[in-house]
Parts: sequence; C-alpha cells; structure tokens
Amino acid sequence: MTTHIGAAEGDIAETVLMPGDPYRARWAAETYLTGARLVNEVRGMLGFTGTWNGHPVTIQGSGMGMPSLSIYANELIRDYGAKTLIRIGSCGGMQPQVKIRDLILAMTASTYGSPSRGIFRGLNFAPCADYGLLRAAHDAAAGIAAGVHVGGIYSSDTFYDERPDIEAEMTRHGVLGVEMEAAELYTLAARYRVRALAVLTVSDHLQTHEALPAAGRERSFGDMVEIALKAAFA
Ligand code: ADE
Repeated sequence: MTTHIGAAEGDIAETVLMPGDPYRARWAAETYLTGARLVNEVRGMLGFTGTWNGHPVTIQGSGMGMPSLSIYANELIRDYGAKTLIRIGSCGGMQPQVKIRDLILAMTASTYGSPSRGIFRGLNFAPCADYGLLRAAHDAAAGIAAGVHVGGIYSSDTFYDERPDIEAEMTRHGVLGVEMEAAELYTLAARYRVRALAVLTVSDHLQTHEALPAAGRERSFGDMVEIALKAAFA
C-alpha cells in the first residue's frame, strides 16, 4: 500500500496499462482480462489486476496531466515493481496527414514543463519510448488499426493553453499530436530503467477542429488496449 494506491504487495502486475480515465480502466479490465479484480480505489482512481493470455496485467487509471500520472507511475515502479507501463489515451492531431480515429505511437514526447523538468535545469532531456515496445506495437497495430503514425508528440502541461505559439512551434517541427502525460512517463521509465510507451487515438484535431463523437470512442479505445497487450507480451 502506498500513499495513493491501496493495492496489497503482489497485487500489481509487472505489466501495467494506464488509461487516463479510471472508468476506462474498469471497462478495459472487464472486457479484456480474465479474472479481473479491483485492486485500487483510492480517490476513485480505479485499478484492476487480471490475466491476458495467462500473463498477469494491471490496468490502473492515471488521471489527467503529468502531475497525476507521475504520482501513479512513481508508486507503481518504485513500490510495486512495475516493469512495463503503457499509456493508452487520446490526443489532439497536429498535422494534416493525422486524421481523427488514427493511432499515434509516440516515439518521443516533447514538453514545456513536466514534474521532472526542474531536475534537468538547463538540459534538454529527450524523453523517448522503449524501442522494443514501439516496434511490437507497430506490428500489432498493422492488423488492427487503419491509420497508424509513429513519431513525436507534445505533452502539454496546460489543456487550455493561452501562451502564444507553443503548439504552433510543435506543429511547425512535425510533432504529430498533443496529449498531457507521456513525457513524464517516458522520463520516469528512463530514470528507473523500465519500459514505457504511449499508444494514442486521435480524438480531436487542432487545425480542422473535428472531434470524435463519444459513441465512436469505445471502439478506438478497445483497439489501443489490444495493441498494448500484444506489444507488452510480444
Ligand atoms: N487529449 C486529447 N485531445 C487533447 C488536446 N487537444 N490537448 C491536450 N490533450 C488532449
């Protein structure tokens, strides 16, 4: 048991899928895992552990934004021994070739500010995905998702960002999409020598202003769960 996770020792698997939304953690666990049981409900941030094809898996909500994800990822890695952490979530598209419902496998995650930013002072650390996971997810996505993009994303620290030009500069530098968690996850994974990846569905687009209707989101979310599970045990 930690400050934010009530699971008993041994109740968290080495492989953890992390959706932002705790209700999605429940849906994914009930839909894809065998014998899923609730292992955490502190602050309503639900976590479940079960098996997939015989492999133990935990699906734990991360909450929104890097400060929240950082709390759960730190405790999962440092206190529960998680070794593979895969974020499954949504992002905003930032390039014309990236369409709504497409999948982005985040090779790198740029950021303006994250909980880890201060420790680097003037250094620009480049948070990146685990290559083996990324490659396996790309292989798995080929049989599941239609539009799949691999490249850099931007992990924003502000959803309603009124600072000028930040997103425009990311777009100008070829960044594929924006979300709010991956850079911190990748930085923690590097620090503690574990594997991490972010698998993201494009739910809205910063240039076209299209947005995925709520009804279409479940299918895309299911695709990400399948891809993450196949990548974790490839
Ligand atoms: N997650 C999904 N869409 C997003 C956006 N437009 N900005 C930040 N995070 C997101």
